[in-house]
Amino acid sequence: MTTVTAVLDPATATAAPAARVARTRRYLMCRPTHFDVTYAINPWMDPAKPVDTPLAVAQWERLHDLYVQLGHEVDLIDPVPGLPDMVFAANGATVVDGKVLGALFRNAERAAEGPAYLEWFRTHGFTELHDPAYVNEGEGDFLVTGDYVLAGKGFRSTPEGHFEAQEFFGRPVIGLDLVDPRYYHLDTALSVLADNEVMYYPGAFSPGSLAVLEQLFPDAVLATAEDAGVFGLNAVSDGRHVILPEAATGLAKKLHDRGFEPIGMDLSELLKGGGSVKCCTLELRERRAS
Ligand code: ARG
Repeated sequence: MTTVTAVLDPATATAAPAARVARTRRYLMCRPTHFDVTYAINPWMDPAKPVDTPLAVAQWERLHDLYVQLGHEVDLIDPVPGLPDMVFAANGATVVDGKVLGALFRNAERAAEGPAYLEWFRTHGFTELHDPAYVNEGEGDFLVTGDYVLAGKGFRSTPEGHFEAQEFFGRPVIGLDLVDPRYYHLDTALSVLADNEVMYYPGAFSPGSLAVLEQLFPDAVLATAEDAGVFGLNAVSDGRHVILPEAATGLAKKLHDRGFEPIGMDLSELLKGGGSVKCCTLELRERRAS
């Protein structure tokens, strides 16, 4: 007879959580050459406030260079004159398993961005493309976890757009109702940190959607109104490094305590358009090795 004895090593039993591991990502970005605020389609935008486009470019370049330094691959799409919001690449599409769901914008001002992004994918080796029939604003409202696609609605993307994504990707899409106009896209109120770990601002969601988030992610990092108000949730994580607006200091501390490495960025000029780190970043997820 064999006896198996479990030995609890006091050294490992009390050790800190295992170090977070970064996974190399591929991102698509768009230089804010033509960035401006000439219309207002969210409460952050005020066309009366002057925009310093060269400063926006400089801030964006620092974000771009940081991704490269961290070992990520960054593709660029050419900015189109007359499309001042095109810098917000997250809205351009959603890419899961190498499949590209194009965006269909709610507002006429951004309508031409959908085809422009889809054309980039068509000419850069992506073969499974879907031109959407229903409004969805890409990764602004679709956030991909290990198991689900979390999908915002209320201001931009629609429930029909959620179903279209579920059918196309074959992944469960969890609809979440956004209720505060300042957090008009899901990526302004929630961020995916690791496969099944998220952080979010509870005040941005309806009671029913909050209950769903609590059930799916009982250990989520919760953001305060202050950290959400400086766009702290508009963050990008590679599993270890979490790039977020530098003003979100409380959130950075919470992430650090969870074993992540928060990196603060100043994207104040782009915030005049209602966007920050995540909005500037579209993740290109390859097909998973099977
Ligand atoms: N001005 C843009 C809009 O209102 C900002 C988009 C920000 N992008 C994002 N992924 N939240 O549509």
